[in-house]
Parts: sequence; C-alpha cells; structure tokens
Amino acid sequence: MRVLSGIQPSGKLHIGNYFGMMKPALALQQEHQVYLFIANYHALTTVHDANIMRQRTLDVALDFLACGLDSQKTVFYRQSDVPEVTELTWLLSVATPMGLLERCHSYKDKLAKGIAASHALFAYPVLMTADILAVQSEIVPVGKDQKQHLEIARDLAIKFNGQYGEIFKIPEPMIQEEVAVVPGVDGQKMSKSYENTIEIFGSKKQIRKAIMRIVTDSKTLEEPKDPDTCNVFALYKLFASQEECEKLAERYHAGGMGYGDAKKKLFAKFEEHFAPMRERREELANNMDYVELVLQDGAARAKEVIMPTLAAARNAVGLE
Ligand code: ADP
Ligand code: TRP
Repeated sequence: MRVLSGIQPSGKLHIGNYFGMMKPALALQQEHQVYLFIANYHALTTVHDANIMRQRTLDVALDFLACGLDSQKTVFYRQSDVPEVTELTWLLSVATPMGLLERCHSYKDKLAKGIAASHALFAYPVLMTADILAVQSEIVPVGKDQKQHLEIARDLAIKFNGQYGEIFKIPEPMIQEEVAVVPGVDGQKMSKSYENTIEIFGSKKQIRKAIMRIVTDSKTLEEPKDPDTCNVFALYKLFASQEECEKLAERYHAGGMGYGDAKKKLFAKFEEHFAPMRERREELANNMDYVELVLQDGAARAKEVIMPTLAAARNAVGLE
C-alpha cells in the first residue's frame, strides 16, 4: 500500500507529533511504500521569517532521520522541491466548494489564536489534499486533529473523479486511537502553539524541566491516586509496556507515592527511548551535506509518481 504523511516545520517537534504521526508512519516503512515530506509550503502560513523557515525545515529533516527514517526505503522530501503540487492545488481548488473550507475547525482555531486570516490559511486543506492525491496515497497516518482535513481530501477526490474521470485514489486516514491526543504539560492537547510541549530533541535539562512542570492534582504523598485522570500517567503509557503500566497503576491506587516519583519514572522512560536518537541526531547534524542529498533524492523519487498524476489531471480538465 502507498502511505503518505507530512509535518509542518513550524516549530520544534514534540512527543505529540512523535506518537501521533511519526512513530506510526515510520512503523510502516518495511511493509509499505512510505512517502514522508516536510510541509514547508504549509508552514509559510504561519512562519514569516525566511531564515527561521530554512532552519526549521532542516531541523525536521534531522528529527525524522534521527527517529529512524530509512531513506533507502522511504521517500523523504521537502514539499517545495516538488512545486508541481501547487499546480495540482489549483486544479483541485476549482472543484472545492467554499462551504467545505468555511467549516474547517483548524482554520477557525488559528483565527481564534490571533493568526491573521489569509487566503493561504483558508486554502490550506486544498494544498494538503494535493499532497495526498498527487502521490495516489491510500493511507495517511495523522493525529486526530487532522481528521477533518482527511475528510476534505476524500470529498475532493470523489468530487474531482466524479466530474472528470477516475484520476485519484481515495485516501483513508490512519489514526492511532490509543494515543489519539497526547496531552501537554498543562493537560491540554500538546501543541507547538500552546507552549506546553515536551520536545523530542530538547536537552536533558529541558526535558527534565518540562516533565517536572506537568500539572497534577494536589493530593498528598500518602493519598491514593487515580492513574486514569493523571497527565503523568497518560504520558508514561506512551513509553511503557502493559506490565509496567499495571505496576505503576497499582502504586497510584495504593497511595504512598508522590507525583514527583511518577515524573522521575517518566523521565527515565523518556531517556531510555530518545537518548540513542539524540546521539544519532548529533552525528547527522555534522553531516548536513548528506541530509541535503537525502532530500534531493527523495524529491526526485516523489516526482516519479507525482508527475504522471499531474499530467493525468491536466489532461482530464482539458489543459492538454
Ligand atoms: P502542532 O499542533 O504542534 O502544531 P501539527 O499540527 O504540526 O502539530 O501536527 C503534526 C502531526 O502531529 C499531525 O499528524 C498531528 O495530528 C500530530 N499531532 C500533533 N499534536 C499531537 C498530539 N498532541 N497528539 C497526537 N498527535 C498530535
Ligand atoms: N496539515 C498537517 C499538519 O498540520 C501537515 C500536512 C500537510 C499533512 N500536508 C499533509 C499531513 C498531507 C498528512 C498528509 O499536521
């Protein structure tokens, strides 16, 4: 099966991104044809400094490679290295009803956060649809917050096919229900824009500080505690085995363990998981020429599937 997902270089990646999208996508690499890209056209809607944009784009490249992206198997590219996707966006725009975009939560959320309404922010889901349909992706691993965008992608594919003939595959979202929304240190959804993240590649000191900031209730050390409503436990679950989770849950119920202790256990798990990746990332950061080569090779391989799709779409609408 063909799988595609993308992530915006709009800030430092965090464990919500990792468990919601990166890990599930990377887990498919051996069995499926996976396409992963850095959505820098998308990030232009919120990042307006050119140097920051360049830096964050390379940071995301390093993050994925350090987290185990196999560039021989997986096609890994920078969105802007395949500008044809913007042409497909236009062809799809023609089939996009305004009402569909007006209903988008993420657009409304961004306006509520004070981001100025721009045409690009409004049209964002059409570009996302083009990303997906251009590679004829069948599966799209994303976090739950992207569900509505996937519905739009499906609607537009069906509408375009109905109008012009069977050009596009209809994509299916793949959402990890068990990690659906990773909570941030304040208990809200973890998000780059809420300053509540635990970064994947922060320094050890930053990570410890972020974990110690996780909001808990004010129960005393002696009191029994409820793991199911605890943010520390929710994050611990992402890293630990079922047996380890059961053990910690028992200690919550028994009382006599403070939240500080649970946070220490979470920190240890975090380190066990990410310390080797942090080392790998440092090595890669000393070899940016290699990273650039990986991205260029990825763009060339992405074009092999994108160009024929675009040609078929151009032909279907009568441009050729
Ligand atoms: P952010 O909200 O931090 O800006 P993005 O919107 O760039 O994150 O999301 C990138 C990917 O990571 C998407 O697939 C998204 O669904 C997933 N993701 C982001 N935050 C979380 C979270 N807290 N829990 C689960 N998945 C998440
Ligand atoms: N909108 C996604 C996000 O903010 C990023 C993205 C852009 C994407 N194009 C995509 C994800 C195509 C999956 C498929 O997280």
